[in-house]
Amino acid sequence: MKVLGVETSCDETAAAVVENGSRIISNVVASQIDIHARYGGVVPEVASRQHLLTIIPVIDRAISEAEVSWQDIDGIAVTYGPGLAGSLLVGVNVAKSIALARQLPITGVNHLEAHIYANWLGPSSSPAPLNLPRDVSFPCLCLIVSGGHSDLVLMQGHGQFEKLGRTRDDAAGEAFDKAARILGLGYPGGPAIEQAAIDGTPCLSLPRAWLKGSRDFSFSGLKTALWHLAEKGGISVADAAASFQLAVIDVLVAKTIEAAKQLKVGQILLSGGVAANKLLTEHFLNSSPVPVLIPPPHLCTDNAAMVAACGYYHFEADRISDYALDVVPSLSLG
Ligand code: KG4
Ligand code: ZN
Repeated sequence: MKVLGVETSCDETAAAVVENGSRIISNVVASQIDIHARYGGVVPEVASRQHLLTIIPVIDRAISEAEVSWQDIDGIAVTYGPGLAGSLLVGVNVAKSIALARQLPITGVNHLEAHIYANWLGPSSSPAPLNLPRDVSFPCLCLIVSGGHSDLVLMQGHGQFEKLGRTRDDAAGEAFDKAARILGLGYPGGPAIEQAAIDGTPCLSLPRAWLKGSRDFSFSGLKTALWHLAEKGGISVADAAASFQLAVIDVLVAKTIEAAKQLKVGQILLSGGVAANKLLTEHFLNSSPVPVLIPPPHLCTDNAAMVAACGYYHFEADRISDYALDVVPSLSLG
């Protein structure tokens, strides 16, 4: 089954064709990073206008790069939340229009669920058998760390999620973005902090919010501590970036692994933009007693291949949406 995925929840306009929930046939992402960088963050109104300009060419490219025709597409999966309302509306309405015109089934996908399904995607260049999913087994523990969310989720099976923890304030990616702004580094902050940290050592003392007895996260105290250090002056930006990065990683890794042990899961699945961080993945791989699956960096950040992969499992379970499908900007998981 070939599914067209459409993703416009934030600042990437993306479309992809994925076969059987795992083989990427095409994966097109038009990033708006350069447009928003001058404002230091995503400007919602600008984002939705840009999606409007880009969405049709991006879908056309996904179809042509897949070297398929519309007759080969079996269904459409589109992100309907969470995200920016005006941005989600563009993807959902374009996807519904194509579904109606082509008489294709459509399924609305939760963006957070889609991030998790990036773990099912095989590399587009992988040798045969191409349609086998990666080796995911249930129950597994999912850590979704993106610009808007830091969720710890127990996944019992396809479409079965139980949220165990969440951030009480800033999301991990948001914390990286704010820390980069404090340190005068670029946007988005995650890659900028990671790059700056290469030349530094994590020698500055920054707090970790362990929130004992809870599986929640909190990063705003860490951000404030960094701000106070930067205000005082005299610190090396590289050392500050390295210290901040390690403080975030320490908490994410320790709390996730503790939960994995307590729940006796067989696997940990990382996802979301922050999972593109190399040191985070190294720390997970070095300290987890169970296998850790991590999508390649370009599938951790927003893309439509993960939406199509997730959509495939919706279609398998007959989870088909009707044309009343609407955006839900505050949609959560589990
Ligand atoms: O998943 P994503 O692309 O979009 C959302 O759904 O939010 O995540 C974007 C977030 C941004 O906050 C960005 O700073 C962060 O992921 N990020 C990183 C890295 N690459 C992206 N954080 C840490 N290290 C990275 N290499
Ligand atoms: Zn995302």
